[in-house]
Amino acid sequence: MRRPFIAGNWKMHLDRTAARQLAADLATSLKGIRDRDIALFPAFPLIPAVAAALEESPIQVGGQNLWFETEGAFTGEVSGPMLRSVGAVHVLVGHSERRHILGESDDWISLKMAAALASNLNPILCVGETLEEREGGLTEEVLSRQIRSGLGRVAADAMARVTVAYEPVWAIGTGKTATPETANAAHAFIRSEVEDLFQVSVSRELRIQYGGSVKPGNVDGLMAMPDIDGALVGGASLTADDFTRIVNFETRT
Ligand code: 13P
Repeated sequence: MRRPFIAGNWKMHLDRTAARQLAADLATSLKGIRDRDIALFPAFPLIPAVAAALEESPIQVGGQNLWFETEGAFTGEVSGPMLRSVGAVHVLVGHSERRHILGESDDWISLKMAAALASNLNPILCVGETLEEREGGLTEEVLSRQIRSGLGRVAADAMARVTVAYEPVWAIGTGKTATPETANAAHAFIRSEVEDLFQVSVSRELRIQYGGSVKPGNVDGLMAMPDIDGALVGGASLTADDFTRIVNFETRT
């Protein structure tokens, strides 16, 4: 069984005081949870305060991005070892906002995956098609390209530390969630691509999160699908009550 993994991507929100408060609230509200993994992804300057607030908590912390060199003249960038040194254990790689707003290429994302693993961070590789690509029937082609490139420098024995997040661009921050069936079909396709790249044991173990307008009202249906192993939550992760409810998704018995 794949252990559920729920992550909150705070994007470019909150300041130090608000981040510390939200982390402290979640440390309390999610205290008893042992059967699922939880991680928060604050903006870089907030990581130390959030990590400190979560010290006694099973909730982990990650960075929203990294650069693929370990140090050097790369003004404005942050390396894997730097993230580790302030308490991050995970990192998002290739988030759609970085692909589409900041212009990150598949090759950079592939290098970042390798750099994250080399820095002992657990990367979440984000993939997903735009509305235009979906309407043009290109969803599988796009996902295949992003998966094959993103995992192209990852060794099979490192895959246990990798998570994939399927985040259809048209569902991010729009209030439009993919139906559980649509999301599951994309997840199953991603899993089959990973099986083809590595082997079936790797694809069976791989956790694939869904991201895109996950809310308290739709998480249970999404998490009931066989290939959906977790959620990468944006907007709803900024409210302690909503994120707590999402982490406590109800499993069908
Ligand atoms: P929303 O949950 O706000 O749609 O954001 C999804 C996302 O991009 C998480 O990384």
